[in-house]
Amino acid sequence: MTTPPPDPNRQPIALIGMMGSGKSTVGKRLARALNRPFLDADSELERRCGVPIQTIFELEGEEGFRQRESELLRGLIGSPDLVLATGGGAVLRPENQAHLRQHCCVIYLQANLQDLWMRLRHDRSRPLLKAADPKARIAELLRFREPIYQSLAHYAVPTGRQAPERVVQDIMRMLDLR
Ligand code: S3P
Repeated sequence: MTTPPPDPNRQPIALIGMMGSGKSTVGKRLARALNRPFLDADSELERRCGVPIQTIFELEGEEGFRQRESELLRGLIGSPDLVLATGGGAVLRPENQAHLRQHCCVIYLQANLQDLWMRLRHDRSRPLLKAADPKARIAELLRFREPIYQSLAHYAVPTGRQAPERVVQDIMRMLDLR
């Protein structure tokens, strides 16, 4: 049996991709253009836990963070009009992959290493980039995750150096949304 194509008018639109690919900025603007609610998974987790993501990593490790992230995603995916910016690693757990693929219209914001590095090189807030060589870390994460992003996405849109407005227009055109 073939799965029906996602209907972005009746399903949440989930943006996936690496940190620094612009999920939050694009998601916020896309939601505004479509007059739909927007939610950023990381900000929502921070709001619910009352501490920054960094503190969740410090107290509970990456595993604890991933557990909270999965629980949050499971709860959110039932909101059909949501535009959701996921965290870059939300695609790692098989249960999240299944939820996203089955219940959302999944859009991969695709950027290359150099563009991601330009956007992330001054970042001090992301726990996974606290490494001796953060660029090599991004490269390693991108290499591992790229096939996962590709296989989960119903659509992919380049986000390298394009302005967020341009990315929003590309998504709306691709999904035939107004
Ligand atoms: C992560 C990305 C972050 C945040 C956490 C882990 C990742 O979200 O969820 O620091 O594993 O790539 P953004 O993609 O919004 O930066």
